[in-house]
Amino acid sequence: MTNNAKHQVHHLSTAFIFIFGALGGLLFGFDTGIISGASPLIESTFHLSIAQTSFVTSSVLIGSSIGALSIGTLSDKYGRRKMLLISALLFIAGSLLSAFATGFVSMAIARIILGLAVGGASGLTPSYLAELATTEHRGSISGMFQLMTTAGILLAYVSNIGFLHHNLLGWADWRWMLGSALIPAILLLFGSLLLPESPRYLVQNGNITEARAVLHVLRAKTNVDPDQELTNIEKIAAQDKNQGGIRELFKVAKPSVFVAVGIMLLQQLVGINSVIYYLPQVFIKGFNFPDNKAIWISVGIGVVNFLTTILATIIMDKFNRKTFLLFGSVVMALSLIIISIMSFTMSIKDAAVPTMLFIALYIFGFAISWGPIAWILIGEIFPLNVRGIGNSIGSAANWIGNFLVTQFFLSLLNLCHDKIGGPFLVFAAFAILSIFFVIFCVPETRGKSLEQIELELRKKTKVK
Ligand code: BGC
Repeated sequence: MTNNAKHQVHHLSTAFIFIFGALGGLLFGFDTGIISGASPLIESTFHLSIAQTSFVTSSVLIGSSIGALSIGTLSDKYGRRKMLLISALLFIAGSLLSAFATGFVSMAIARIILGLAVGGASGLTPSYLAELATTEHRGSISGMFQLMTTAGILLAYVSNIGFLHHNLLGWADWRWMLGSALIPAILLLFGSLLLPESPRYLVQNGNITEARAVLHVLRAKTNVDPDQELTNIEKIAAQDKNQGGIRELFKVAKPSVFVAVGIMLLQQLVGINSVIYYLPQVFIKGFNFPDNKAIWISVGIGVVNFLTTILATIIMDKFNRKTFLLFGSVVMALSLIIISIMSFTMSIKDAAVPTMLFIALYIFGFAISWGPIAWILIGEIFPLNVRGIGNSIGSAANWIGNFLVTQFFLSLLNLCHDKIGGPFLVFAAFAILSIFFVIFCVPETRGKSLEQIELELRKKTKVK
């Protein structure tokens, strides 16, 4: 077993490990982004009612909340790698089923299965990456998850445009759009068969020799001493005698649960997915844009989001996490307020272009800060024995926040006579609230090892 593990890791470069480890993010972005282009087409093929079409969109979010909530306990029990494999299988099943769906029921089932996979991957990947990374590069490496997510969103937009009205080989365009998720899903399956198990999980389960082998390979080209790291992990694991579980989570990590849920809800309540999922519709309705132009707006958003995330990933370990978060909150609050004022005071024609520019600034503000850091933090702030379940709760909070925003945004827009300023003022209020949350509640984690973060938490909660 040990030699086998060593052998497996040996042949993989660390870049491979981190890129494949983060592929769940790509599928997360792709499967949530693709539906904006595909849903009107599915609606007309299956003659769906508005309620049925909405359900096709939101069923992924239902599946994700369930997937996110269940993955943690499972990954603490069976390991991160096995769960990555199960997520990949669910991704494959969901992509196939949705591409071959024959009506509303099969499509809804397919989307729920995809949701389970997306939720599972989002609850699993951040802690898996954090556990593999060195302290020095942990921000950038955990940030790979968000980088992949934004790449997935961009790919989904491009695939929407590429396949639209092209019924290749006699198959409807939307079947190709949904089916193209199979490629990254198969890559994830392939990756999860080769990826190493997390050394921290291995230590927690008494598999010290294999943990050492994995750490030696992961740290081969770094200046970190893998044996010293192993000793530190062992020390912490010896303290975490109780196997994780919800009771243990609230006993040892109540402050972390509060921070994770707060940060994840706020990440959504600043309204990012009103833009990611609905912006073309906003421009069609609010600014009288023709459909074919509005779809290009999505691509513009996708590009700004992706490029900014690349920048964030590169500079993530150069500044404190809290500094990034505060900067992002201020940029988002200001741009949302300015857009709102413009929407109430200027004519549609005059407001269109400046609105677009400030939306780009808002996306920049999100993508440089809350986008990556919310996911990085939930991988960092939980003690080892409850890290899986803690991550789960954080990511479920993210899905619930996402569900709230996507359910209520269009109704709120309608209530405000298609003036984007209405919902955006609500989002601005949350962006302002997020400033106080960061200042008073979020701990700084940059430059500290996961073991150090855990010791500080235990000091605070006085649980040994
Ligand atoms: C959020 C997603 C969002 C994406 C946009 C992620 O961090 O959790 O809901 O769609 O960022 O890039």
